[in-house]
Amino acid sequence: MDKSELILISGGLGVLGQSYAKVLQEDGYKMLLLDINDPSGEYLGEFFKCDISNEQDIEKLSEHLKSIKMPICGLINNASCQPPGIANELEDYSVDTFRKVLEVNLLASFMLTKLVIPYMKEQKKGSIINIGSIQGVVAPTFAVYEGMKITSPLVYSVAKAGMIHFCKWVAAKYGKYNIRCNAVSPGGVGDSQKGGSKFSEVYASRTPLGKMADSSDIADAVRFLISDKAKYITGHNLLVDGGWTIY
Ligand SMILES: NC(=O)c1ccc[n+]([C@@H]2O[C@H](COP(=O)([O-])OP(=O)(O)OC[C@H]3O[C@@H](n4cnc5c(N)ncnc54)[C@H](O)[C@@H]3O)[C@@H](O)[C@H]2O)c1
Repeated sequence: MDKSELILISGGLGVLGQSYAKVLQEDGYKMLLLDINDPSGEYLGEFFKCDISNEQDIEKLSEHLKSIKMPICGLINNASCQPPGIANELEDYSVDTFRKVLEVNLLASFMLTKLVIPYMKEQKKGSIINIGSIQGVVAPTFAVYEGMKITSPLVYSVAKAGMIHFCKWVAAKYGKYNIRCNAVSPGGVGDSQKGGSKFSEVYASRTPLGKMADSSDIADAVRFLISDKAKYITGHNLLVDGGWTIY
């Protein structure tokens, strides 16, 4: 990939978004961070405020991309949201909460992919990465959430399974344009989780490598899949989970 080209990162101000920005900046790429929140401090990359689940905001983004006239060769569909009631029991789960999580993961990834494909087709080059999760591959180990303030809801598993399968479809359809689409599926990330130290301990004890991931572990996988070192890899789901899913 030509390093003067642009990579869009949805949820780019988040913990993982910034960890990708760090390594991609080291590799010389330009990044456009799409986030619903304004930055609260220093950040790496250019910022474009945007609710990626909102069609009008995507239209504004489209106009912005036309105006900056940069080739877009990368998209990282990374944003996730925590709407009210995200951790409710299924019996108490609201349709609005379920819908919002699907919108930010799946609908927004569809809209952003739709936006970048014409650029990538024209360049005959592109790498799209969807951020999945172990929860999109295996069922949650509910025992690790017992007595904790967090859980892993059904909608998250469903959304992440969709994000992973999404890549196979895009890979099959656009491979002839040299557009690759892969998923990176993290296990629990220690510097980004909200469960506290007790949760980290319990989680680590269930993980073959004996610890939670660091955000840099996930960024290294993204760095590889974006790069030409992965030029013959498409439709793949790279699990970065310390072995969580081998059982
Ligand atoms: N942290 C983990 O342990 C972990 C594990 C597996 C997978 N993941 C996945 O990694 C990705 C990043 O996670 P993170 O830990 O960095 O989360 P984070 O909460 O730090 O970052 C998510 C970012 O998305 C932004 N966002 C939310 N809704 C948006 C919208 N509608 N439009 C634009 N931006 C929006 C938020 O403002 C935030 O900056 C997510 O897809 C998450 O599901 C995380």
